[in-house]
Amino acid sequence: MDDVVLDGDKVRLRDWRPSDLGPLRDLLDPARPWHETNGPYFGTPSTAAAESTARELTTIKAEPPDPRTSLAVCDLSDGRLIGRVSWYWESRETDWRRMGLVIYDERYWGGGFGTEALRMWTTYLFSRTDALRLDFATFSGNPGMIAVGRRLGFVEEGRFRSARRWSGGVHDAVVYGVLREEWDRRHRSDMGPA
Ligand SMILES: CC(C)(COP(=O)(O)OP(=O)(O)OC[C@H]1O[C@@H](n2cnc3c(N)ncnc32)[C@H](O)[C@@H]1OP(=O)(O)O)[C@@H](O)C(=O)NCCC(=O)NCCS
Repeated sequence: MDDVVLDGDKVRLRDWRPSDLGPLRDLLDPARPWHETNGPYFGTPSTAAAESTARELTTIKAEPPDPRTSLAVCDLSDGRLIGRVSWYWESRETDWRRMGLVIYDERYWGGGFGTEALRMWTTYLFSRTDALRLDFATFSGNPGMIAVGRRLGFVEEGRFRSARRWSGGVHDAVVYGVLREEWDRRHRSDMGPA
């Protein structure tokens, strides 16, 4: 199967490579600020867990899954690794996929990289599956992720009030989703010829 390489205006989504290991170790460092909004109630992963994630992602798979479960997010202008998109089964039995997005490198926050990465990832997943819907979960303390979703046309489908109480405070858990036909209408030009 060919490598996946998807270019937007400012980001490239591509398959992971063994040479990403060094940069990824640095980006996954427990001291990096992205841990503060990426499910902080689960606790910051240990250095050992970060190392295991970095190795897992950058090990070449003999038969990579289609669709990919994760791609590297790079700055298109210079190829620098800056983040990751992913998805997992919320419920495989009912064909319900949930996406993840992290721009690990805080120097890129607020520059439109997250929005473009999630736009391209959503289009990729709709085009490689017959999924009826895609969503992501976050919490009310992450206005950046909520803004990314709203900007792309995701709608708030669930709000679990005061569901995230931990040492950092009390927040709502929220889920934003989009239906295939909504995405197709709004991002028709991304989807290729009908
Ligand atoms: C959340 C995240 C993915 C957003 O990506 P980004 O590249 O920083 O976002 P963009 O530059 O594309 O911004 C999109 C919108 O969000 C807004 N935004 C970004 N960060 C924000 C923040 N901290 N507070 C409020 N709004 C924010 C931008 O102003 C923009 O809004 P606009 O369209 O009205 O101008 C990124 O900051 C990140 O990875 N953070 C750390 C990890 C994380 O929280 N991941 C998500 C877990 S659910």
